[in-house]
Amino acid sequence: MENFPFAFILPTPSLIPSAHDNHIERRLSALRGQFSDQAAYERILAQEDTLLYEVYEIQRPHESGELLTGISIVHPGKVGSEFFMTKGHFHAVLDTAEVYLCMKGEGFMVMENPQGECRVEKLAPGEVLYVPPRWAHRSVCTARLEDLVTFFIYPGHSGHDYGTIEQQGFRKLVVEGEAGIEIIDNPRWSKKGS
Ligand code: F6R
Ligand code: ZN
Repeated sequence: MENFPFAFILPTPSLIPSAHDNHIERRLSALRGQFSDQAAYERILAQEDTLLYEVYEIQRPHESGELLTGISIVHPGKVGSEFFMTKGHFHAVLDTAEVYLCMKGEGFMVMENPQGECRVEKLAPGEVLYVPPRWAHRSVCTARLEDLVTFFIYPGHSGHDYGTIEQQGFRKLVVEGEAGIEIIDNPRWSKKGS
């Protein structure tokens, strides 16, 4: 890979980077076990393996000193009462942070650390969110029709630990309740290995 400065733009309205190296599509089948309402999950999946979110990555070496950037697009929709969301992860190198800039849409970043502390922060256009080292993170789109689009930047050597969240889930869920959008405790949360 050439080591020269480079630039790209995020053209409106798509916000898909003008130059990118990787386009990842994550569908319902990739989030088996993550949505609370498993019957609703199976019903939707039987109809269609719905596209939940997409990521456009700008490739750089996965090394400390480098920064990895890209765009994440979570589509609108629900499984039961739970809004479409990303898988979510800890960074494999736990002591690495990440910055998100919300470009479009509305939603939340659900976060927790191994000590059991949780935060759920609103995402709206122009909001910059700093995810500190050690905090797992998942983005959730709560708009009815519009995508949630975020730009992210994180250290090149972070890596991803998806397994812990696959086994534990997040402690908080973002759902459509009777009074509107609600953040509730995850009744199925359980510590990995217990
Ligand atoms: C990278 C990061 C984002 C997510 C993206 C998709 O560390 O946090 O680029 O990778 O929002 O979410 P996941 O990776 O959880 O499927
Ligand atoms: Zn991350």
